[in-house]
Amino acid sequence: MTDHIEKILEKFSSPLSSEKGSAVFEQLKRQPADSLLALIALCRADKRENKIDVGVGVFCDDQGHTPVMKAVKAAEVHLINTQNSKSYLGSVGDVVFFQQLMPIIFGTEYTYQNRLSGLQTPGGTGALRLAFDLIKAANPHTKIHYGKPTWANHGQLIAAVGLEAVSYPYYKAETREIDFSAMMDALKQIKRGDAVLLHGCCHNPTGCDLTLDQWQEIGAVIAKRGLLPIIDLAYQGLGDGLDEDARGLRLLLDQLDEAIITYSCDKNFGLYRERTGAIYVLSENKTVAEKVQSNLTSLARATWSMPPDHGAAIVRIILESDILRPSWSTELQEMQHRIKTMRDQLAQADAYFRPLSQQKGMFSILPLSSEQITRLRVEKAIYMAPSGRINIAGLTSKTLHPFIEAVKSVL
Ligand code: LMR
Repeated sequence: MTDHIEKILEKFSSPLSSEKGSAVFEQLKRQPADSLLALIALCRADKRENKIDVGVGVFCDDQGHTPVMKAVKAAEVHLINTQNSKSYLGSVGDVVFFQQLMPIIFGTEYTYQNRLSGLQTPGGTGALRLAFDLIKAANPHTKIHYGKPTWANHGQLIAAVGLEAVSYPYYKAETREIDFSAMMDALKQIKRGDAVLLHGCCHNPTGCDLTLDQWQEIGAVIAKRGLLPIIDLAYQGLGDGLDEDARGLRLLLDQLDEAIITYSCDKNFGLYRERTGAIYVLSENKTVAEKVQSNLTSLARATWSMPPDHGAAIVRIILESDILRPSWSTELQEMQHRIKTMRDQLAQADAYFRPLSQQKGMFSILPLSSEQITRLRVEKAIYMAPSGRINIAGLTSKTLHPFIEAVKSVL
């Protein structure tokens, strides 16, 4: 018996076993901090009372507070009172949530129901991750073409999956508009079968949205060249309105056999940390759609197994309710209106901000050098993304003019 114990002790004290613990992680390279998340932490730590946070993309009311929407609060109360089980729902998540979003995204008259597949995801990020995983599973040589600049996390997600990302021109910094002819020239060169990432509305970070004519033209090129569009729809309702913000996407889908839509409820339901989203995939026919569904389900199972339920349950309750649905939609319109008012006031206050009135949603890019952006943070307690992107919803009627003055002081 003693012999046996000694043998075990010997085994655990051998040089091989004591080295084992550190050998794996020592190989890791330290990763740079995500610049936006680092900015949130910096801003939080700043104790200056006059600080202005136009960094991370969250909606704020005119008191600078990110509220829980009234319909969301009411749905949460209802959920707590009525939910009688927390048992698993499965990898597809809440199917009613998934279906209730469809007319909001695709309208009420779309004809491709049988060709759609998809599931609930942890936020729009989860949907994007699954989209890239699905593309990789179908063909690992597919390149993802993204308009420059794009949401900073797009690049990280594509890299994490191991696909190649290639940029196409989107924004002309000199005019602060879309460089549509350069974009079209680039799209016409893309190899058949490659994917093109597009922002459904409220372009992040530029605020420069495509017109319906431009969506139509892009659709024709995508169809002709056999490309796969991935439409990231993360801000529906915060540009021109719920229906209006999906019109470009609908025009595109009417022309195509295949497409991916990644959807987020973070902003339009104010559910940020609840991680609520969905992926919809359009396939050329029902048989392929079924194959896609089985792949999505198995990828989700291997990635997060099942999505978190709370946010999706709230959205489902709101969309199914004759009382909560209009309340949500009115509050969303008020949010959209507040952003537009801030935009217009900025644009009217000074020529430097004038292009902002042509742009949509929470974001715009200010043409500032990194030195100017740092000065604004250090000297004026103004927090914006390193690209010069500002979240217009971060401004209030109290901070608007101090913000304008501060920006002008560093020009
Ligand atoms: C943003 O762009 O600020 C938001 O979408 C938050 C994020 O996760 O980057």
